[in-house]
Amino acid sequence: MTAPNRIDYLRVSLIDRCNFQCVYCMPEGADLQYALREHWLTHDEILQLLSEVFIPLGFTRFRLTGGEPLLRPGIVELVEAIAHLPQTQDLAITTNGFLLEKLAQPLYDAGLRRINISLDSLNAETFQKIIGGKGKSRWQDVWQGIQAAHRVGFSPLKLNVVVIPGINDNEVLDLAALTLNQEWHVRFIEFMPIGNDDLFEHKGWIDSAAIRAQVTERWGLTEGQVAGNGPADVFQIPGAKGTLGFISQMSECFCDRCNRMRLSADGLLRPCLLNESSQIDLRSSLRAGVSLSKIREQVGILVGEKPEINFKMRESGITGAYSRTMSQIGG
Ligand code: 5AD
Ligand code: SF4
Repeated sequence: MTAPNRIDYLRVSLIDRCNFQCVYCMPEGADLQYALREHWLTHDEILQLLSEVFIPLGFTRFRLTGGEPLLRPGIVELVEAIAHLPQTQDLAITTNGFLLEKLAQPLYDAGLRRINISLDSLNAETFQKIIGGKGKSRWQDVWQGIQAAHRVGFSPLKLNVVVIPGINDNEVLDLAALTLNQEWHVRFIEFMPIGNDDLFEHKGWIDSAAIRAQVTERWGLTEGQVAGNGPADVFQIPGAKGTLGFISQMSECFCDRCNRMRLSADGLLRPCLLNESSQIDLRSSLRAGVSLSKIREQVGILVGEKPEINFKMRESGITGAYSRTMSQIGG
């Protein structure tokens, strides 16, 4: 029997709202019930949970997500506090990049080193179509944010692309080419049916193998390596400075390798993106005065159950109805 995964990676959603409304994540007309602001875990509660519950259980690697985490008031102070917990071995953030131009330097100075930025298109019009909203395209702002992150020295700097047939699949090679001359790491993510049934039904999805084939035909592809905790299969165009990652949760279930737990902005802890039934409400426990040692015990039990939950998810596949979108769960 192979050793069970070490579950030591926690994704912490700081806010369930977003300043974009990406078609794959928050479809127009979706009836999103945001958490009440007073239900957001406070900075102190987050820090308390990390240092008194998760770290003692062996968690050492954290990723801050949203919605859009840079919208969270006080984000720089929170990053600084988490980065300076003595046991933090790795701290990363996933952002849409819109507010990054100004925040890249303060975040770096606060101790953040790893960043993932969504960039689904190099075309301002297509980009705007994907992220929704009217008026001037926000592509340039995001691009400036990426440049700022590059300038201040974030490494590895990863760019996430969700490939949607008929929308941005014609840009795969252009996006892959971003890795040629800069140490940027582009990751193609298979489009998932989460809270976006119409689009998914209408467009379908493209599997990583097809994208890999396109890249291979153009440049060739060898195995690559990049720091991170994720499920990406990493390759490299020969001679390129950066790498290409493929996240293939649709075509290849990787539930059995999953090492992450997720804490939502309103304090729900779930062992799996797609499994709502086993989540536990840490906010209510904390605010009801349940002791940290008792909460630690409950979380420890849930962590212990994760291998079995992973196994069940693997058996049932990525299907079903989800009451929260990716932005609400913490993408
Ligand atoms: N399919 C795949 N990835 C998604 N994300 C959000 N919604 C989806 C979806 N339906 C991911 C994207 C985005 C991150 C915040 O969440 O990678 O960059
Ligand atoms: Fe887009 Fe990320 Fe916001 Fe979802 S959370 S709408 S993927 S920017």
